[in-house]
Amino acid sequence: MVESIKPFQLGLFGHPVKHSQSPRIHAEFAKQFGIDLEYQLIDANAAQLPKAFKQWIKTALGCNVTVPHKNNIMPLLDHYTERAHQTQAVNTVYWQDGALWGDNTDGEGLVLDLTNKHVDLKDKQVLIIGAGGATQGIIPSLLDQGVECIDINNRDVNKAQKLADQFEHCFVLGFKATYSYDLIIHATSMGHQGLCPQLESRWFHGETIAYDLSYGDAAEPFLTAAKAHGAKQAYDGLGMLYGQAALAFEIWFGQRPTIKLPLF
Ligand code: ATR
Repeated sequence: MVESIKPFQLGLFGHPVKHSQSPRIHAEFAKQFGIDLEYQLIDANAAQLPKAFKQWIKTALGCNVTVPHKNNIMPLLDHYTERAHQTQAVNTVYWQDGALWGDNTDGEGLVLDLTNKHVDLKDKQVLIIGAGGATQGIIPSLLDQGVECIDINNRDVNKAQKLADQFEHCFVLGFKATYSYDLIIHATSMGHQGLCPQLESRWFHGETIAYDLSYGDAAEPFLTAAKAHGAKQAYDGLGMLYGQAALAFEIWFGQRPTIKLPLF
């Protein structure tokens, strides 16, 4: 057995945060390396964030950041990584040489989960439904994997266009005549209201994989609809949640935990 090192202070800033699974996930990861960590949940609204964060982070190893602060946190940091810059979002904060850095492991967390599920992204045609922060957070990682194209479908078409204009190989749905997709990702917040965007049968072929970035009940409406439209597999985003956490853990401790399901 590995001997415990010492308590490490980590935490999550968000609003709300009380239902977060992050403390349990990181406790499980820490166990793998015999690390004794303390992972706190810090609920702060946008007005409270600067003061709360600056004070708390002084004595911490780092933190995670979740909705609605992934972008709000950026001005409070000294530097951020290229992928945080590209996604305009930070979900992981760490100290390096006395400076505060922000990184974003969401997109790589998704890729890690898809890889674990043996979903190859190279040359694949992808549809993302939704054009908010969640979509922006995953596009660079999908492009890095060599997807052929990403079509974006969103209620507000101008938002989809703005996002498509920022990245290569990205289009607003309908701009390019791609009618069926290898991977359809649901990235709107509709599932939290028990709703699902309207899906079209022509988007699905025999091998289409459906993936909801939400997990649990919030993913159910989309996953049910995707299966009814003939998706070969339909996954919720729990694996992505674990993946982004494993990559954050690796940033803080230099070791990547194994994701053994069920995690707890
Ligand atoms: P996040 O950071 O989680 O992506 P967001 O930036 O608020 O959150 O984006 C939410 C996404 O869900 C957007 O794509 C939004 O569509 P609009 O850009 O048209 O607002 C989408 N969304 C939320 N509720 C919706 C609804 N009832 N119908 C269709 N799309 C919805």
